[in-house]
Amino acid sequence: MTTPEELLERAADVATRAYVPYSSFRVGAAAVDSDGNVHTGANVENAAYPATICAEANAVTTAAALGVRKIDAIAVVHLDGDLGDLCTPCGNCRQILKEFGVETVIMRNPDGSPHTVTLEQLLPMAFGPEAFDAER
Ligand code: THU
Repeated sequence: MTTPEELLERAADVATRAYVPYSSFRVGAAAVDSDGNVHTGANVENAAYPATICAEANAVTTAAALGVRKIDAIAVVHLDGDLGDLCTPCGNCRQILKEFGVETVIMRNPDGSPHTVTLEQLLPMAFGPEAFDAER
C-alpha cells in the first residue's frame, strides 16, 4: 500500500517538472487509484493564463485516460512561495476530484508530514456523478 509519505514524495518529484514560466509556482500531485496504482501530474501554464492546467487536474485526467474511474486519494505539494502554507486544491480541481470519487486529500505540512483532510471537508454538499445514471 502506498503511504501518505510516499504519495507526498511522488508529488514533490513531479512538481520539479512543472511548466510555470508565469507564476514560478511549481505544484505536483500524485493520485492513487482503486487498484493501488499511482498517477502523477504537475501544473502546466499557458500564455493565455486561463488555459493553465493545475497539477491535480493533470494527474486525474492522465489516470482517466488510462481507464481509471475511481481515485481514492491524492497528494498535493508546492515547491515555491510560502512553504508554510498548505497547497489546497483550487475550486475547479475540487470538482474534478469529486468526479472520480476522491475521498482523501493529502497536503504537506512545513515539517514535511502529511496533513490529511477529506474531500467532503473541502467541497461540502458537492454536486457529482450521483446526480446522473451515467455509465462511467
Ligand atoms: N496550482 C495548481 O496546480 N494546483 C493548486 O492546487 C493551486 C494552484 C497552479 C496553477 C498555476 O499554475 C499556479 O499554481 C499558480 O496559481
